[in-house]
Amino acid sequence: MNKINIEDIRKYFPIYNNNPDFHYLDNAATSLKPSVVIDAMNDYYENYGVNIHRGVYKMSYLASTAYEDARSKVAKFINADDREVVFCRNASEGLNQIDLMLAKTLKSGDHVLSTPLEHHSSILPWQNVASVGIILDYIDLDEDYRITLNNIKAKITDNTKVLAITYASNTMGYITDIKDIISYAHQKGILVVLDAAQYIPHAKVDVKDIDCDFLAFSAHKMFGPTGIGVFYGKYNLLKKLAPVYYGGDMNNDVDFYKTEIKKPPYCFETGTPAIAEAIGLAKAIEFIEAVGYDQIQKVEKNLLDYAHSKLKEIKDVIIYNPNTDLGIINFNIKDVHPHDAATIFDNYNVALRAGHHCAQLVSRTLGVNGTLRASIYVYNTKEDIDALVDGIKETISFFKQF
Ligand code: ALA
Repeated sequence: MNKINIEDIRKYFPIYNNNPDFHYLDNAATSLKPSVVIDAMNDYYENYGVNIHRGVYKMSYLASTAYEDARSKVAKFINADDREVVFCRNASEGLNQIDLMLAKTLKSGDHVLSTPLEHHSSILPWQNVASVGIILDYIDLDEDYRITLNNIKAKITDNTKVLAITYASNTMGYITDIKDIISYAHQKGILVVLDAAQYIPHAKVDVKDIDCDFLAFSAHKMFGPTGIGVFYGKYNLLKKLAPVYYGGDMNNDVDFYKTEIKKPPYCFETGTPAIAEAIGLAKAIEFIEAVGYDQIQKVEKNLLDYAHSKLKEIKDVIIYNPNTDLGIINFNIKDVHPHDAATIFDNYNVALRAGHHCAQLVSRTLGVNGTLRASIYVYNTKEDIDALVDGIKETISFFKQF
């Protein structure tokens, strides 16, 4: 695709044509989808929508090629080898697979270290295996609720075998200083599982540069379709792991009681995969490249500064992450329940998220029952922020009546 002019970006998103007054600020939940992604998926269904890896006919070969090309596109995008890219349902499912596979290599008494900034997908799979004796432990955050290397060092013991950590927080928008953390973890013989779901829509992931052992993300937060995600693992680690799922297409030879499974990544992809979605993800990557992370970051930073300057003027707004690294504003309106506020915002066609945002440890750490979260992406405008600010003012005046 040709470079996208940022002034024109909204025209790539049919949802804005169909809903001209829509002020979408729930981008950390999912991104909107450009027509190139939708068209590529429709093209598959309309012109070569058959199964892959199985059919000995031309159309199946075409579909298989498109699916494997999508894998190569992802691999190149994150600087991995094709064999290290496994398609799965989403980041949550990818992290579950990684954690369940790693759990089988751990023994009772081994520790998995994590952080209170995690999305539930990064910690609940480990809580699930705690019943077999694996101990889940948490670092302390610093006074700004950030992850620091020193606080990680303080919690590592000889039993720590895995660090399950977010690359960027979905509630606070903090980016983790991951390179130093991974380097230190490796000195201690600890494997690092990285949740990159909130990072990859906004910044370049280079798995070789950061040297993570495993990483997962979803397509749908980065312009891609729902129903597909990726988990990455270093090949020499993946080849030692036993898959979680077994069935069609992941095997070479099946006998009554024994099966020879394929090599990674195929041994981790049983059943008919999300073919159209893989093709959509490849287009989403092309779209990100055509927009450019530099433009994405510039738009987000400008809108975040604009939003902060407006919100500063409203004294009943409490912002929990004024120094966020991403375009995420985690806030409350004094004495108003976040769900009540979100209902009023809806009258202004402002869509954002209210509650715990699947990261309840953050609410617990902040000592609140939930928050409002406005999350910005590259197609947002000052008008979206103005609509949010109007919604906040209306909410305050509505609740001040009582
Ligand atoms: N993980 C998504 C969020 O943060 C759904 O909202």
